Amino acid sequence: KLLLFIQRLFLSVCLFDEEPVCLHTKVLSCWFCRNCKVDVAFLMEGSWSIGKRRFAIQKSFLGNVVKAMGVGPQGAAVGLVQFGNKPTTEFNLKSQWTSKEATAAIQEIKQQGGYSNVGKGLQHVYKTFFLDKSGNRGRAPNVAVVLLDGWPSDAVKEPARLAREAGINIFMVTVEEADQDEKKLVSEADFVNQAVCRTSGFFSLSVPSWNEVHKFVRPLVERVCNAEKLLCSKTCLNSADISFVVDGSSSVGFNNFRTVLQFVANISRAFDISDTATRIGMVQYTYEQRVEFPFNKYNSKEDVLNAIQHVSYWNGGTATGAAINYAVQNLFSATKPNKRKILIVITDGRSYDDVRGPSAEAHKGGVIGYAVGISWAVHEELMAIASKPEKDHVFFANEFGGVNTVVSQIVTNICKEFNEQPRN
Ligand SMILES: *[C@@H]1O[C@H](CO)[C@@H](O)[C@H](O)[C@H]1NC(C)=O
Repeated sequence: KLLLFIQRLFLSVCLFDEEPVCLHTKVLSCWFCRNCKVDVAFLMEGSWSIGKRRFAIQKSFLGNVVKAMGVGPQGAAVGLVQFGNKPTTEFNLKSQWTSKEATAAIQEIKQQGGYSNVGKGLQHVYKTFFLDKSGNRGRAPNVAVVLLDGWPSDAVKEPARLAREAGINIFMVTVEEADQDEKKLVSEADFVNQAVCRTSGFFSLSVPSWNEVHKFVRPLVERVCNAEKLLCSKTCLNSADISFVVDGSSSVGFNNFRTVLQFVANISRAFDISDTATRIGMVQYTYEQRVEFPFNKYNSKEDVLNAIQHVSYWNGGTATGAAINYAVQNLFSATKPNKRKILIVITDGRSYDDVRGPSAEAHKGGVIGYAVGISWAVHEELMAIASKPEKDHVFFANEFGGVNTVVSQIVTNICKEFNEQPRN
């Protein structure tokens, strides 16, 4: 009981504090102290149907949510879109406010009026809100929290699907039932389920009345801040653990090895890289193997590209089979559930050991294999490394200078394969 009391106390302190700082995370497991590193678009109801009083409650609810999340460079970045007839960005992620400033900005917002066009609001969000130039940090999951009074006036399903496919995690908070007038306008009675990822209600909250909305601050913030669960809106670019296994044998040579590193960097550059999105790891091998960097070492594209550039050439024999085994045991052992395990092997010659066995073992463990052979690489070995069908997973260049032509094809194929998978 005492613990509960203290926890409540912390909660209330937190709600009124600008930057919540937790000293006792472990002891009290206080939920609000976790680093809430997400980029959030709040979509706020501005239609006439909500009325002045409820519009004011909505503002104070949003203010409390923002306070509880902890806004700032180390925490959440927030922006707000009001939707009535037409969506308007009231402020975007670039404002880089503290909780206090964001709360004040929310208080200033004037009700727009018109219909409840949520679908148009979502479209506005995926087209304009999460662009880099609008302040998207890229190192944090994208979240859209829709607050809706009653039912929407336009279709939600299609814009929501497009937003999710752009990697945006949509939360739907619906408050109160629709009145009869509103129901006439609704084309999708099941719009909440159509809008969110189907993960047993995690992405939707139904609030019986505006008078009770304050009770939902904590449940909402807990969910929005749970970065591990925000993997539902996956794209081919933000949901993989990619492991490069690079041949450092003496036949490659110093200059060609630089080209291979460039190749690795060019593929990596195409992905959204962060701890919650795609992660990159790398193994170099000769007769021996070494981890150049594991998945969890770097949390941004910049750092990964920098690390690739600084890998030094090993120079030795070629044991490709052992290297694949090694990558499975030393990189993929630390993969996260929900991530696609992609292995890209780059080699220029025949392996001294068996490639077939280790490759089959890797495939059995859910690893998707891509093989990139250069000059003396052996076709049968590339086929063994690669997943089926061969034409989508085996690449070959006659000389090192030619690998650059393969980059976009590999990325395209990774995305094609992803889009063919059944999805949540
Ligand atoms: C990598 O990308 C750069 C810039 O697009 C290009 O000039 C270079 O040829 C590429 N190299 C490889 C090996 O892919």
